[in-house]
Order: sequence, then C-alpha cells, then structure tokens
Amino acid sequence: MTRPLLSASILSADFGRLADQVQAAEAAGVDWIHVDVMDGHFVPNLTLGPPVIAAIRRATKLPLDVHLMISNPEHYLKQYVEAGADWLGVHVEVAWHLDRLLQQIKELGAKATVTLNPATPLSSLEVVLPTVDMVLLMTVNPGFGGQEFIPATWPKIRHLRQQLDALPHPPLLQVDGGVNLSNIAALRQAGVDVFVAGSAIFGGGDIAGNVRRLREALEKSRPIQPPA
Ligand code: DX5
Ligand code: ZN
Repeated sequence: MTRPLLSASILSADFGRLADQVQAAEAAGVDWIHVDVMDGHFVPNLTLGPPVIAAIRRATKLPLDVHLMISNPEHYLKQYVEAGADWLGVHVEVAWHLDRLLQQIKELGAKATVTLNPATPLSSLEVVLPTVDMVLLMTVNPGFGGQEFIPATWPKIRHLRQQLDALPHPPLLQVDGGVNLSNIAALRQAGVDVFVAGSAIFGGGDIAGNVRRLREALEKSRPIQPPA
C-alpha cells in the first residue's frame, strides 16, 4: 500500500476557466489531474481530446492521469502520450488485445492503467495484473460526473486488494465515481491507493476546502493490513 493519492477529475471543473481550475486544484494539494476522454460511442457523452490535454499539460506540473473512455483506443495511444499523459488508461471492454495495448502504452513512455466497468469481472485482469501499473475500478457507470457510488462494487474492491497483495510488485488500485467525504475513509480502509474525485473537489466552488476535508478524512482512516 502506498500513501493515498488524490486525482482531481476536471470533468466537474468549469471548462471556461480550465487552466485556472487545474491550478487551483494543484495549489490545494491534489496529487494528480484526472482527465476523462469520452467519445460518444463507448460512453454516452463527449468531452475532449489531445489538444485540450496539451493545454492542461502547459497549465500544471502535476502528473496527468488520462482515462480513455473511447472505442478503438489502439488508434490513439501515441497522440495522448505526446499530448502529455503520464498515466494512460484503457477499458478492458473495448480492448481486443488488452495485453498488447498495455505494453504499447509503456513502450510509449507512459504508465499503463487497466480499467473495468462496474459489471466487468476481475477475472478479465488475470493475465495483465503482474505487469500493469494501475487498476482502475469504476464505481459508477462511466460517462458522467456527479453519479452515486454503486455499493455492489465494495466486494470487488476488497477482492482485488487481496489479489494485489499477493503480487511481488502490485499495481496501484484506483477508484473512480461517486467518491466523496462520506465514503473516502472506508475506501482507504478497503485498500484503495488512488482516489479520483470530480464533484467532491470542484463542486460548490471551494476547491481548497474540499481538498482539505478529503485529506483530513483520509488521514483519519487506516488501511486494514492483510494477515501476515
Ligand atoms: C465518469 C468519470 C469520472 C467522473 C467522476 O465517467 O470517469 O472521472 O469525473 O466524477 P464524480 O467524482 O463526480 O463521480
Ligand atoms: Zn474518470
């Protein structure tokens, strides 16, 4: 288990002031900036592409955690790494050749994230777990910010933590969707390393206060260590 990392999802930011909002999140002490790329095909929403990521890259020194929610991701990996993605995530549901895609991300010089929808089983990860850099478990159905955390994903998170703890070099465990003050401490106790939060950081306008409260909740929580 690593120290908990907060990744601020700009999906809930004011896109008209994107650089300012990213810099406010950085000043508030988030660890990463999470960028949601949606194609209107894999998910029922459209967001942004490489030029906007390049603009965010110019606005912050923080690592960019890019979450691709697009069909045919194999056509676009290079563009996203060149635009500034430090971490690049693909969904297993659209990966014809998952292991190849993840290796290609690494060869391009980025860290590789494998992402699962809430209803996609952990068994789809079996072959890639020892080599991938991070596993992102979606805790809402992807496409929109501000949705409610799906409670049925709790056992999945705990089960994945057990699987990761059995590896010599475990990837990070990230969750995305409905993370907020009411559940972040319990998620940490369940063994989550990286917390994506959109509306819980950018909602209501008090970015500094929102980040401070999330951090306080994290500090109060202690992960339950697996038995030796
Ligand atoms: C949803 C996106 C999330 C979204 C999370 O498809 O992947 O990153 O921004 O938003 P909240 O934290 O508001 O649930
Ligand atoms: Zn996301």
